[in-house]
Amino acid sequence: MKANIVCLPGDGIGPEVIAEARRVLEEVARRGAHQFVFAEHMIGGVAIDKLGTPLSDATVQACKDADAVLLGAVGGPKWDDPNAKIRPEQGLLRLRKDLELFANVRPVRLHPALVDASPLKPERLADVDLVVVRELTGGLYFGERRREKTERGERAIDTLAYYDYEVRRVVELAFRLAATRKRKVTSVDKANVLDSSRLWRQVAAEVAKDHPDVTLTHHLVDSCAMRLITNAAEFDVIVTENMFGDILTDEASVLAGSLGMLPSASLGSSKLGVYEPIHGSAPDIAGKGVANPIGAISSAAMLLRHSLRLSAEADALERAVDSVIERGLVTGDLGGKATTVEVGRAVCESL
Ligand code: NAD
Ligand code: IPM
Ligand code: MN
Repeated sequence: MKANIVCLPGDGIGPEVIAEARRVLEEVARRGAHQFVFAEHMIGGVAIDKLGTPLSDATVQACKDADAVLLGAVGGPKWDDPNAKIRPEQGLLRLRKDLELFANVRPVRLHPALVDASPLKPERLADVDLVVVRELTGGLYFGERRREKTERGERAIDTLAYYDYEVRRVVELAFRLAATRKRKVTSVDKANVLDSSRLWRQVAAEVAKDHPDVTLTHHLVDSCAMRLITNAAEFDVIVTENMFGDILTDEASVLAGSLGMLPSASLGSSKLGVYEPIHGSAPDIAGKGVANPIGAISSAAMLLRHSLRLSAEADALERAVDSVIERGLVTGDLGGKATTVEVGRAVCESL
């Protein structure tokens, strides 16, 4: 098949891990006689420096016209001034919003060879196989936001708002996903305090009625954070508000051995998706060639499966990643000595 893929490497380790994800996609194309056409565009801090904006209209259009988008990471100390009007992260948020990618799917699996890479006891890691579906275009990230000087002092306001339809479409996606897995949805909220969570819970219960083959459990976010560390095997599909999902998935990455392991797919109602590792630009290791590219490479596998409907190729890529891990060819975050490039090349060879 022929596919147009936009690469947005971004900042810090973004370009390093995207180079490897692209390398494996090129290998997949070569082996399957597919034609993947790559176009690279800027996002984040590099785009601020070169274009004066973290995401240009032209880049948004290129992404809309593409079959899929592969993204690295944005941000870094250079653009971290708290008083700055423009921030790299705004580019990422705009991309998700403009492309209407309301669901961010973040699978969490532990490769058996990596049990020792996690600080958790092996018995806590047995049978971990869960997916977090994070709402991505609403909630605390997109509510009204402002600062004001008042007589009592300076005040900052962020709001957490949801329409019922925004909750419904992401919960519906979670149920459809669960139907292909262990048939359990855990809807995570803070309904003991927040009205937005009470609406979330109500809508989740309504959606559940259309899916009698899948069980729904409601779970408060604070204790969910605890259960993720003590009893993660009880979860199948977790669906939750934008920021709750952001926080819970960095936490859940501990189950997989490293933040560098987790991929994601940002999906909407068409085939177009943005595929990105869940980690950030990792300024502390950027430029050293030691970043773990597996989160980015596994995101490329999700791209093959969801946007290009190449499920055999996606399976083969995931098996290739597994075999590289089995051979111990991993980066420093997992206790290994391999470089970013060595891992990417090894995955290509395993293919
Ligand atoms: P981070 O995810 O960049 O890094 C957290 C820790 O994990 C660091 O010690 C880092 O070295 C390590 N790490 C992350 N990815 C790794 C990988 N692939 N291999 C090995 N180690 C890895 O989070 P942070 O330091 O809090 O944020 C840095 C910047 O990244 C901030 O500007 C933040 O806004 C941005 N950020 C961007 C994204 C994104 O673009 N999607 C996600 C998270 C954070
Ligand atoms: C992520 C990141 C982003 C988010 C930031 C960089 C805006 O943490 O993709 O998880 O919070 O969504
Ligand atoms: Mn995050």
